[in-house]
Amino acid sequence: MQSFVVNVISFLFAIILCEHLARSERRCRCLSHDKSCWPHSSVWQAFNESINGQLVSVQPSAAPCNSNPLNVEACTTARQQWRNAVWRSDQPGAMQNHNWENSSCSVFYNSTSCHQGSVPILAVNAILPEHVEATIRFVDKYNLRLVVKATGHDFFGRSTAVGSLLLWLHHMKNRTLIPKWSSCRGETFENVIRVDAGVQWGEVYRWLAAYNLIAIGGASATVGATGGFLQGGGHSPLSPWKGLAADQVLQFEVVLADGRRQIVNFCENPDLFWALRGGGGGTFAVVLSAILRTYPTPSIVGSYQAVFPPTNNRYADFLHHFVRSLPALADMGWAGYFYLTAKTFTLAFLSPNGNYSTAYQSMHQLFRNFSDLNFTEPYVFELPTFLDFFSALMEATNENGDNYVMGSRLLPEAIIRHQPQQVADAFLRIIDSEQGFLVGHLTAGGKVSDITQNNSVNPLWRTALLHMLSAQFWPDETPIEDQVKLAKRVTQNVEILQTVSGGEQSGAYLNEADPNEVDWQQKFFGTREHYTRLKTIKDRVDPNGLFVCNKCVGSDDWTEDLNCPNPKQSIANKHKLFLPLVLIAKFLLSYFKIDV
Ligand SMILES: Cc1cc2nc3c(=O)[nH]c(=O)nc-3n(C[C@H](O)[C@H](O)[C@H](O)COP(=O)(O)OP(=O)(O)OC[C@H]3O[C@@H](n4cnc5c(N)ncnc54)[C@H](O)[C@@H]3O)c2cc1C
Ligand SMILES: *[C@@H]1O[C@H](CO)[C@@H](O)[C@H](O)[C@H]1NC(C)=O
Ligand SMILES: *[C@@H]1O[C@H](CO)[C@@H](O)[C@H](O)[C@H]1NC(C)=O
Ligand SMILES: *[C@@H]1O[C@H](CO)[C@@H](O)[C@H](O)[C@H]1NC(C)=O
Ligand SMILES: *[C@@H]1O[C@H](CO)[C@@H](O)[C@H](O)[C@H]1NC(C)=O
Ligand SMILES: *[C@@H]1O[C@H](CO)[C@@H](O)[C@H](O)[C@H]1NC(C)=O
Ligand SMILES: *[C@@H]1O[C@H](CO)[C@@H](O)[C@H](O)[C@H]1NC(C)=O
Ligand SMILES: *[C@@H]1O[C@H](CO)[C@@H](O)[C@H](O)[C@H]1NC(C)=O
Ligand SMILES: *[C@@H]1O[C@H](CO)[C@@H](O)[C@H](O)[C@H]1NC(C)=O
Repeated sequence: MQSFVVNVISFLFAIILCEHLARSERRCRCLSHDKSCWPHSSVWQAFNESINGQLVSVQPSAAPCNSNPLNVEACTTARQQWRNAVWRSDQPGAMQNHNWENSSCSVFYNSTSCHQGSVPILAVNAILPEHVEATIRFVDKYNLRLVVKATGHDFFGRSTAVGSLLLWLHHMKNRTLIPKWSSCRGETFENVIRVDAGVQWGEVYRWLAAYNLIAIGGASATVGATGGFLQGGGHSPLSPWKGLAADQVLQFEVVLADGRRQIVNFCENPDLFWALRGGGGGTFAVVLSAILRTYPTPSIVGSYQAVFPPTNNRYADFLHHFVRSLPALADMGWAGYFYLTAKTFTLAFLSPNGNYSTAYQSMHQLFRNFSDLNFTEPYVFELPTFLDFFSALMEATNENGDNYVMGSRLLPEAIIRHQPQQVADAFLRIIDSEQGFLVGHLTAGGKVSDITQNNSVNPLWRTALLHMLSAQFWPDETPIEDQVKLAKRVTQNVEILQTVSGGEQSGAYLNEADPNEVDWQQKFFGTREHYTRLKTIKDRVDPNGLFVCNKCVGSDDWTEDLNCPNPKQSIANKHKLFLPLVLIAKFLLSYFKIDV
């Protein structure tokens, strides 16, 4: 009798398990060129009505110059605006780096093979949370491939995909300053901001300047404030002063993969809150808005220097001296960017609330023995607010529209302090190579090293001082073979960086890294354990894998194009069915009193 009860219980358990597994069964996505499954136009029309007519057609950014007959006016505009990041982010079909559109359309030459490429044919231009909820339910119902896009800055093309339906969040622009806000844990914060999914950093900086406030945002005015940037970590020239962008989040409002709207914070959905602060955009949920900390704007001491070493030897001398000096400069509060090519070294640094005379002294020491690098006087200046520095030095340099790939490594502070020679030599090897250049982000160290931050940011950020990236770009008409060569060069340069960043255990920032990174789970998430923890949360909040993107948590469950379940994974799922079937069999056998 007792064993019969046990069997009844396991029978019920088995049915629940079977149902769960059946529900989470993953199939290949239905793509827009597949007429056998793509929803009928009447279905699209009804859907369009349900979202207040916000469904729009989408085209690649160069399409106006490739139409037949040519729309001369639209083509001229596209040519003039090509590198304008705002023009790009205002279009659902444009990516900031043109290569991700993969359309073979060009404004620079007449292409005979211009097609839609990786640009979805339809987008929901969401304005209300209800549009987001309806889109998630629609995509789930028709088994469509979804892509989520705020601005199109992603360096892995994660916000576009061939045959998908695009959820475009650009016009969700609400933002509110909340003078006093209490967290669910009872802490009170002054002047927090609530920003919607379409808000961009330049808008935040200008809006907050009227209140003498700043938030910890990106170097580009057009990067999204709550999307991939924030959810992937988000480094800022203010990060050594106050931490990464993900460290500033107090709460999210999201739409989950099941279409429900949820508050996510330390008390509600705490695991998802942990994952959304560093685990990457487009992976766990659609963020509708975020509540972020702000700070009174610091005054800024800034420095800008460009030097031209007369010989390779003098360049090497200088670079060794520069790398040796970096830890001390960082300790003084300097942060920012530097840029190295084979012929030039440029630096744009800032020190929040810095002291002019000590800042001047430090720059003088950095350059004084290098007058032959056409260096005369340190250019050190004082500005009243962060926005002044941003408008003067950072905003103007944000031109996009290139075909572009990069690779990167986080350089541990300990290595820079103890092996500066090797670090400088690695930099020199990279810039010596053909067309090589390096960008240095002195945006780690200081407050970024605060290991008590309990979020999912790659832990290697907490021990790094620099994030270094090497990149290549190419004109539209470059043959595929040459593009492959350039991508290989990027990967080789990453290998050089890796020799001074901890070898196999080194890591990279998942938003600014090599799209061909092989061991990306370890590199982007620091350790396999960290990745596994994120994957467990991912599987729970998104069992059907509605949110997939290139080298994002859980993308290893899918084929390379992210449209079909990974065959290996499907076998694992079939094994899972074994247990419930055994339990059901045992129940039936016990019911008919057959002993086994
Ligand atoms: C010119 C330029 C400057 C940059 N400067 C910096 C910098 O200073 N610091 C830094 O850390 N990074 C910087 N980046 C990298 C940047 O963090 C990434 O490109 C990041 O992906 C941008 O996020 P986005 O939402 O604006 O872009 P998108 O391309 O729109 O989205 C990126 C990813 O996030 C997802 N996503 C977007 N919105 C949401 C949402 N609301 N909910 C869920 N998922 C969403 C998308 O699906 C995609 O996977 C820069 C990039 C560029 C091109
Ligand atoms: C959706 O409806 C609006 C309003 O009726 C219409 O202007 C728009 O063209 C429709 N979208 C598509 C893709 O048909
Ligand atoms: C780009 O387009 C080419 C040709 O259509 C295709 O073979 C390739 O797979 C595409 N690449 C990506 C990343 O979508
Ligand atoms: C493309 O072709 C058109 C019409 O033939 C011509 O006017 C235009 O200059 C061409 N553009 C380029 C970039 O060659
Ligand atoms: C903007 O957000 C605030 C809350 O922060 C809300 O009260 C207001 O209704 C929103 N406005 C719009 C137009 O959605
Ligand atoms: C960190 O956050 C997670 C998720 O909210 C929680 O389970 C864990 O206990 C926290 N760890 C610490 C050290 O606070
Ligand atoms: C800046 O530092 C110098 C030297 O340490 C000191 O004399 C001066 O008072 C400081 N200035 C300010 C404004 O704090
Ligand atoms: C710079 O030159 C001075 C003498 O002019 C010397 O004392 C000092 O050690 C040099 N500094 C560095 C960093 O080489
Ligand atoms: C550096 O300065 C010298 C002398 O003033 C000048 O001849 C030379 O062109 C300059 N080089 C660069 C790269 O500016």
